[in-house]
Amino acid sequence: MALNEELVAPAAEALANPYLDGPYAPRHDEVTVSDLPVLEGALPRDLDGVYVRNGPNPQFPPLGRYHWFDGDGMLHAVHFENGRATYRNRYVRTKELEAERAAGTALWRGVIEPWDDNPAGDRREKNAANTDVIFHHGNLLATWYRAGKPYAIDPISLETKGVDTFRGTLPCEVSAHAKVDERTEELMFFDYGINAPYMRYGVADPAGEVTHFTGIEMPGPRLPHDMAITEHYSILMDLPLYNDPRAAAAGRFKLFFDRELPSRFAVIPRYGRGDEVRWFEASPAYIYHVVNAWETGDEIVMVACRVAKPSPVTDRENPLAQLLAYLRPEATLHRYRFNLRTGACHEEPLDDVNTEFPAIHQGTMGFPSRWSYQMRLSVDTTMLFDAVMKYDVLTGAKETKTFGPGLFGSELTVVPRPGATSEDDAWLTMFAYNSETQKSEVWVYDAADVMAGPVCRLGLPVRVPLGFHATWVSGERMRAAAEPADD
Ligand SMILES: [Fe+2]
Repeated sequence: MALNEELVAPAAEALANPYLDGPYAPRHDEVTVSDLPVLEGALPRDLDGVYVRNGPNPQFPPLGRYHWFDGDGMLHAVHFENGRATYRNRYVRTKELEAERAAGTALWRGVIEPWDDNPAGDRREKNAANTDVIFHHGNLLATWYRAGKPYAIDPISLETKGVDTFRGTLPCEVSAHAKVDERTEELMFFDYGINAPYMRYGVADPAGEVTHFTGIEMPGPRLPHDMAITEHYSILMDLPLYNDPRAAAAGRFKLFFDRELPSRFAVIPRYGRGDEVRWFEASPAYIYHVVNAWETGDEIVMVACRVAKPSPVTDRENPLAQLLAYLRPEATLHRYRFNLRTGACHEEPLDDVNTEFPAIHQGTMGFPSRWSYQMRLSVDTTMLFDAVMKYDVLTGAKETKTFGPGLFGSELTVVPRPGATSEDDAWLTMFAYNSETQKSEVWVYDAADVMAGPVCRLGLPVRVPLGFHATWVSGERMRAAAEPADD
């Protein structure tokens, strides 16, 4: 097998790491702030629910080099109700974090350090539960990018309830991204690992019990990050970016992008077995995040942010540049079409702007949708979002609204308005970091008119460190989950 590109983490220099500084610096306080002040505009009274965002926030100084993926998960939430907004932040109290707190020091090394001499005596990375947060069977679930046990968290108090075993039915771990079909309230998930068949896929029912589970045979260990669902199918990924199994066996991380292998997409019926997978091949790439997928005629359409060259800057003279570039996305909007009748796969770029962290109306997940709201990556060395982009994924048309000098966004959520009659009859919610005040704000946009800028800016007395993924939990869904079950 020809490996025409070898991606290796930089050598063990001691580096001042910008992901521990400025807008990324961890906070160690956990606060609740009621009645956030309106700085500009007016807070829509029909905003009813919780915007919650996960992200890395290391409790202790790292053992060796730190990667942004390593920090302990911290949730930051804004609870909107009756025209008032309350902010909370809480650590995800993982077992590993509790062990480190008991020891008073970090016990696990991060992704770019060897794990075989972890002081924890655990030859793997810490499940930091820092990556995504979703809502299912009445709980927030905090997930981790390398697949780990999900943590159940109360959506209002942000109290960690513990590892969610799905009532004892979860037979595997859960990857960074799992998908909720809001029409059936089912959760589709996968995990992956170093042992054959290398991927597993399952479905949990609305009560959070796993009702379907199967292995997906891959050619070897892979590092998929996301998946897609449609009304009747799930789509899983075999992408030619993977960790060298010899390095993994030695407790190291050595990433390859094999430009001679295709990207492969597994289309499986929602309740299908592994031997029912239909594979579709496309050009080599990596994909962090899917926008949406749906069925139309004989085809499945999938729109995603595609990384054509998942390669860090190979500047051996500048290990800091290497470290910063490591897994930094250079992604563009891309559309795939998988023809279930002919087996053909067609792909086409929709744009050439580096943009990521897509958000859609969650009720359209798996069904035809038009609008994707994404973050534009600035040209800075670290990962900063300097504009919101509204894409029409049917045509590739876009609107770009920059945040302004020194202002940086975070993944937003789409909040349908009560009685909404169109997909973009909605609010958008996000955190914005103001590098001048070194504080954060809560911004609300009208999804139908992002070019008008935020309709409301709320002040926060604290900084929300830049982070990863967010979700919206409507008051209606929270109240329904809090009601006792019929049986
Ligand atoms: Fe992600």
